[in-house]
Amino acid sequence: MATLIDGKKISAEIKEELKEKVAKLKEEGTEISLAVIQVGNDPASSVYVGNKKKACEFIGIKSVAYELPEETTEKELLDIIDELNGREDINGILVQLPLPAHINEDKVIEAIDSSKDVDGFHPMSVGALSIGKPGFVSCTPAGIIQLLKRSNIEIAGKECVIVGRSNIVGKPMAMLLLRENGTVTVAHSKTKDLKEVTKRADILVVAVGKPKFITADYVKEGAVVIDVGIHRNENNKLCGDVDFDSVEPKASAITPVPGGVGPMTIAMLMYNCVNGRM
Ligand code: GUN
Repeated sequence: MATLIDGKKISAEIKEELKEKVAKLKEEGTEISLAVIQVGNDPASSVYVGNKKKACEFIGIKSVAYELPEETTEKELLDIIDELNGREDINGILVQLPLPAHINEDKVIEAIDSSKDVDGFHPMSVGALSIGKPGFVSCTPAGIIQLLKRSNIEIAGKECVIVGRSNIVGKPMAMLLLRENGTVTVAHSKTKDLKEVTKRADILVVAVGKPKFITADYVKEGAVVIDVGIHRNENNKLCGDVDFDSVEPKASAITPVPGGVGPMTIAMLMYNCVNGRM
């Protein structure tokens, strides 16, 4: 039987710690504020943005919302970002992705001042992470490090295998596990003999975007398994990239879906807003 890594509980602890810190900062006369920009009304984005605003409210961060119409031009969005970059009363700027097709996402991400890039997507933030300088770290992989640390799972010297090489999860995850002195392998869709690679892992992080892709035969006995995926199955039930029922008996610790990695992303966004570049 694996230990369940409880992301709901750990994210709640982090949010409580941040709430205390924000209250202290307020006493000293400092207010933290986050600008949240959504362009268009993609329903999933609206849910995420709503949850981000709620988390801000709970912690005591002032959220400044920009709900812009789908037809907003790239220039209009860039002008808003430019104005927010210059405002001393705004600590963080978050542009919810995806953006409508007529807006260049890279251009928008690069327009955000890297000192306010709480998502950690700006090339300056990514570069800082690679060379071990202070900078914002992408929230999902940062949350996974917190899950491991707060569950007393040692990373140093461990074989860490990440399946998936996205800019938002796989690549920054590799950098973070390396920073913690893990021995890191990044596997992906072109990896030959994936099972042989994943079976080496003491810590296996799965971010492939395919429901129940990782079954027991990909996992070493006693491995720690972190599931970044979230999907709805044919019965409208949530599941991850890991086939939980087959993998759980073999793992020493595992994150459930829902209630594992998911809740950590917003907690770490709040962490980035409060703590700045670290
Ligand atoms: N869309 C899906 N996930 C994210 C995220 O973490 N940040 C932003 N800005 N947009 C997203």
